[in-house]
Amino acid sequence: MKQFKIFIFCILLIQLVGCQIFNQKTTSKVNSPNDKMELVFSIPEKGSPFYLINFNGKRVIDTSFFSFDFKDEKSFGRNLKIVNSSTSSFDETWETVWGEQRFIRNNYNELKIELQEDEENGRKCFVVFRVFNDGVGFRFEFPEQENLKDLIITDENTQFTLTGNHTCWWIPGDWDITEHLYNTTRVSEIDALSKRNHPNLAQTYIPENAVNTPVTMKTDDGIYISILEANLTNYSDMTLKIDKENLLFQSELVGNDTGIKVKTKTPFVTPWRLILIVDEAKNLVASRTILNLNEPNKLDPGKSGWIKPTKYMGIWWEMHLGKSSWDMASGKHGATTENAKRYIDFSSENGIKALLIEGWNTGWERWIGFEDREGVFDFVTPYADYDLKEVIRYAKEKDVNIIMHHETSSAVRTYDKQMDTAFALCKSLGIHAVKTGYVGPIIPKGEYHHGQYMVNHYRKVIEKAAQYEIMIDVHEPIKPTGLRRTYPNLMSAEGLRGQEFNAWSVDMNPPKHLTIVPFTRMLAGPIDFTPGIFDIKFDAYKDKNQVNTTLAHQLALYVVIYSPLQMAADLPENYKGDPAFQFIKDVGVDWDTSIVIDGEIEDYITIARKERNTDKWFLGSITDENERAFNISLNFLDEGKKYVATIYSDKEDSHWDKNPTAYKIESLTVDKTTNLNLKLAQGGGTAISFIPVSE
Ligand code: NOJ
Ligand code: CA
Repeated sequence: MKQFKIFIFCILLIQLVGCQIFNQKTTSKVNSPNDKMELVFSIPEKGSPFYLINFNGKRVIDTSFFSFDFKDEKSFGRNLKIVNSSTSSFDETWETVWGEQRFIRNNYNELKIELQEDEENGRKCFVVFRVFNDGVGFRFEFPEQENLKDLIITDENTQFTLTGNHTCWWIPGDWDITEHLYNTTRVSEIDALSKRNHPNLAQTYIPENAVNTPVTMKTDDGIYISILEANLTNYSDMTLKIDKENLLFQSELVGNDTGIKVKTKTPFVTPWRLILIVDEAKNLVASRTILNLNEPNKLDPGKSGWIKPTKYMGIWWEMHLGKSSWDMASGKHGATTENAKRYIDFSSENGIKALLIEGWNTGWERWIGFEDREGVFDFVTPYADYDLKEVIRYAKEKDVNIIMHHETSSAVRTYDKQMDTAFALCKSLGIHAVKTGYVGPIIPKGEYHHGQYMVNHYRKVIEKAAQYEIMIDVHEPIKPTGLRRTYPNLMSAEGLRGQEFNAWSVDMNPPKHLTIVPFTRMLAGPIDFTPGIFDIKFDAYKDKNQVNTTLAHQLALYVVIYSPLQMAADLPENYKGDPAFQFIKDVGVDWDTSIVIDGEIEDYITIARKERNTDKWFLGSITDENERAFNISLNFLDEGKKYVATIYSDKEDSHWDKNPTAYKIESLTVDKTTNLNLKLAQGGGTAISFIPVSE
């Protein structure tokens, strides 16, 4: 009897194995942990594989194919069979070094499919899907294999097929810059080419009707979708080409002038392509999935005490206003020893712990507008009127940290050569933060800011900086893709239309600008937007330019726009004696918890954040060009605690253009049972600090 059972068992086993071999499984499905998201992967007989996504029982991403084109190699993506597939689950909570919140849950179900060309010695690739409650990440993993070694990718053709002509918030897929204003159109009306040749961009190249990511959409039935990338490593940035007829996006990698998109060799993996799908706009902003798709911290946590979120001031806005200049030849050099001491005094008196000084090193006479910019900056030689050592000594005495500035003017080879020396100087001076910049077309010519060459350069800077215990804030960066998890010295980045455009651009940021940014660029990572302009019209310097928000809106940005390096951007004389400056002094920069209370793209957003290691809460709310009233429940506050709420808000007659600097401050005692009525003027905002009564 026993033998018979074993015999039957063997037959069953053979049948099972046989099924695997002879009866190719062609469709696989995997759901999110909460079952609301479903990923379907399928491979029609002898055909090309595709994926699709359902959310709450509705199709959100329709049949989407993928393939790769290689130089001197046949394309990959047809005639594939599934060799193997497996599913697994993951659930872990990890602690951030700094960020919007202290603990992040990483919970997904994974489907891993091994594909192989259905021919002798067919080439292989794994497709890995991770299905989260708020989206799907997937990437392609090419293992080491005999007949696929060194290769040049000339195109990755990954599709994102939409199910309708959604409303879309987009910037053009510029290979050289992301400092464009957001546009709102239906997908079929995207016209990236019309954004070519902006007069205020030092470099711009828009080869196709494509958009950059994150690109965010809203379906007519109220579902929000954003397409992003996570962990962009040794690859090039993915822009998305629009196919208007079929309503789909297709990946268009940034290349260089030789037609190469990516040069690599097996084994390699692509970055994660991430599609966030949520039913409320605020859940896009609350998503941490981009971080979960990156590797854990590589830096030694025991030796990372130098990584510290901070507020900072800067000899910066005055150059953008034209009050002073970066270069010395103009006769109005901003970075003088005397001016630095003035800023150090002001920062120190007001508890702002860091100061950025731009224009300190020689070379600014030739930094833009010249073809040959190699060797212009050496990052160690100060101008004659700037006593570097004395400034550092004075800053130390006043407990202010200097943030070093390395504008490379995109002479990347020069920076590459100088980097060790430059970082060593910082280390010898006790400097732990550097702001880098890449204005102008890249040298070597023919490379672009968002191509693989630069992706690798930006990474090298982060890794090298870590060796020298330096935090990095990148301007003109590659867009963030969540790498701050792996390298927590990568603090912040520009990579959007920042405040500076208000000082000198023909088209300033409209009042609605920052009600779009949290749902688009901010999904990628922290933003060095440089908020806090109080002298909104700055008529003393520029009569045609201004900031297009109220002052209270500027305050609210300290909570709404997340950055671990957060600038108090205006001039000391504009803050001096202004009671609203108290909010900037009080507001946190590192958070234990962040709660997106509500928001609608291009209309308004309200966020509350609890400071890490204190019991203080802060709230920021901003609106577009429309006035708004909100009734906000303070139920996010801690149980059993009373707080003094100091409310900085617009006045009845405040208006982003007609009366931007009018604001009022009120104080009251509140707890989590309190409801507050907020009233935001056109282009306005409200900022609130909640300080526990016992403190
Ligand atoms: C552009 C950066 O965005 C800005 O912050 C900086 O002041 C200038 N480049 C000069 O480096
Ligand atoms: Ca810039």
